[in-house]
Amino acid sequence: MLASLGKIQNSFVRSLTAAATVGSAITMAAAIGLGVTNAKENAAYRAALYSALAGTGCGAIFGLVYSARGSQPSTQTQPERQTLSIDGLRPAAGERQTWKDWRNFVVIRKVKESEEITSFYLQPEDGGAIPNFQPGQFLTIKLDIPGQPRPVIRTYSLSDYAESGAYYRLSIKREPMPVGTNFMPGIASNFMHDRVQVGSIIPAKPPSGKFVLDPQKSLPAVLISNGVGITPMISMAKAATLLNPHRPIWFVHGAREGRFHAFRDEVATIAQQNPNLHVHVAYSRPQPPDTGHYHSTGYVDTDLIRSLVQQDAEYFLCGSPAFMQSLREGLKAAGVPDSQVFFEAFTKGISMGTEARAIAANPNGAGDRPEVVFAESGKTATWRSGDGSLLEFAEANDLNPSYSCRQGICGTCMCRILEGEVDYQNTPVAAIDDGSVLICISTPKTARVVLDL
Ligand SMILES: Cc1cc2nc3c(=O)[nH]c(=O)nc-3n(C[C@H](O)[C@H](O)[C@H](O)COP(=O)(O)OP(=O)(O)OC[C@H]3O[C@@H](n4cnc5c(N)ncnc54)[C@H](O)[C@@H]3O)c2cc1C
Ligand code: FES
Repeated sequence: MLASLGKIQNSFVRSLTAAATVGSAITMAAAIGLGVTNAKENAAYRAALYSALAGTGCGAIFGLVYSARGSQPSTQTQPERQTLSIDGLRPAAGERQTWKDWRNFVVIRKVKESEEITSFYLQPEDGGAIPNFQPGQFLTIKLDIPGQPRPVIRTYSLSDYAESGAYYRLSIKREPMPVGTNFMPGIASNFMHDRVQVGSIIPAKPPSGKFVLDPQKSLPAVLISNGVGITPMISMAKAATLLNPHRPIWFVHGAREGRFHAFRDEVATIAQQNPNLHVHVAYSRPQPPDTGHYHSTGYVDTDLIRSLVQQDAEYFLCGSPAFMQSLREGLKAAGVPDSQVFFEAFTKGISMGTEARAIAANPNGAGDRPEVVFAESGKTATWRSGDGSLLEFAEANDLNPSYSCRQGICGTCMCRILEGEVDYQNTPVAAIDDGSVLICISTPKTARVVLDL
C-alpha cells in the first residue's frame, strides 16, 4: 500500500486516499466484529463509528506526513539505470556524468578492425551516462592481469566520436615481441586481445589529454597517422564532420597493406558524409587484392603532405616515433610554425630533442648528488647525473611505480612529493594534483626529495 501511496504525486489526493483507505479498513473490521459478536448495544455501534472516524483522521494525517517526507531530497543520489545498447548511436539519458578516479566499464562489443587492431566498445557498469570528450583524448584503463604483481595501467585514445555519447571505443594494437629480441610481447595489449571479451569489466579514468582538435576552428586541419596512430584521427575526423563540416580536413594515413589498414570502410563513410574531408591512403607494401583501396605507394612523408596541402593549416601527427620525427622536421623545414604542429607519441621512442638530453644533465640547484627518499618503501638513494628520470631511478632501486606513457601525458606515474622540488624535463601534459609530481619526466631540483613511494 505504501508503494502505491508513494506513486501519488499530489499531497492532498495522497492524504484523501490514505484517509479513505484506513477509514474503510476500520469500518469493515468493525462491521465484521459486530456481526461475529452479535453485539446489539448502542455503545458497541458508537465504538465502531468513533473508531472508523478516528481511523479516517489518522489516515489523512499519515498521508500528509508521508507526502512531506517523500518530497525531501534524497541524500544518496543514484545514477539513473538504463538498458544500454549500441544499436545506432542512441543518446544517453540524463546528465552526462563525469567521475573521479576509477569507474567500472563493461565491454559490450569487440570488433576486429585489422590483422593487428581490435576495438572494444565500453559502457559504464553503473548504467549512468558518460561525459563527452574532446576529439583526440584518451582513456586510462586498469587491468588485473594474472602473473602481474600489480594492476597494469595503460592509456588508449578514444577512437570514435558521437554527440550522443552512448559508449566509448578503444582500438588496441596487439604489441608483438620486438623483432630480434626475446622480450615479452606487450602485456596489456595481448591481454585485451586474448582474454578480454564481451561482458568483461574494465576500470577506467575519465577522458583526458591535450592532443585535441578544436572542431569549431576554420583553419584547415591535416590529420596524419600511420599504423595504430589512426585512432585519435578517427575521432577528430568524425567530430569535425559532425560539428563543423565546412572546415577543410585532410585525412592522410599510412599502412603496410590492406590487411593492416584498420577503419578503411569507416573512413570512407565519413568522407561520403563530409565533402570537405579529403582522404589519402599510402600503402608501403601493397598486395594485389589492395588495388583500388589506396592512393599512393610508399610512406607518408613531408613531400606527400606538401603535394596534397598547399595552404596554411594546422597539423596533427600520431604514429611511429620515426614517422613523427621525420614529419616534424620536414614540416619545420617547410616553414610550418611549431605552434601549428601537434603530435602524440604512443611510445617513448620519439626524440624529445634537447629536452630528453636534459634528463642526463645535472639538475639545477640540487647539488651534485641529491638524496631521494622513497618514504613508503623506506629506501634512500643518491641520484647521480645519468640516473635518468625519478621513475627510472625508482625502478633502478627495485621499486615498481605505476606508469604508462613515460612522457608526462597520461598522469599514471603521478605521486605525492612530501619534501623538496623536482625539475620537469619537458612540459607535463597531464593535469597534476597539488602536492604531486610526474616522476616519469622529472629529476630532483633540491638537495633532498621525499616521494610517497
Ligand atoms: C596517449 C596515449 C594514447 C595511446 N593510444 C593507443 C591506442 O589508441 N591504441 C593502441 O594500441 N595503443 C595506444 N597507446 C599505447 C598503449 O598505451 C600501450 O603502450 C601499448 O598498448 C603497449 O602496451 P603493452 O602493455 O601491450 O606493452 P608493454 O608490455 O608495455 O610493452 C611494450 C613493448 O615493449 C616490448 N618490451 C617488453 N619488454 C621489453 C624490454 N625489456 N625492453 C624493451 N622492450 C620491451 C614489448 O614486447 C612490446 O612490444 C597509447 C599510448 C599513449 C601514451
Ligand atoms: S607515465 Fe604517463 S605521465 Fe608519467
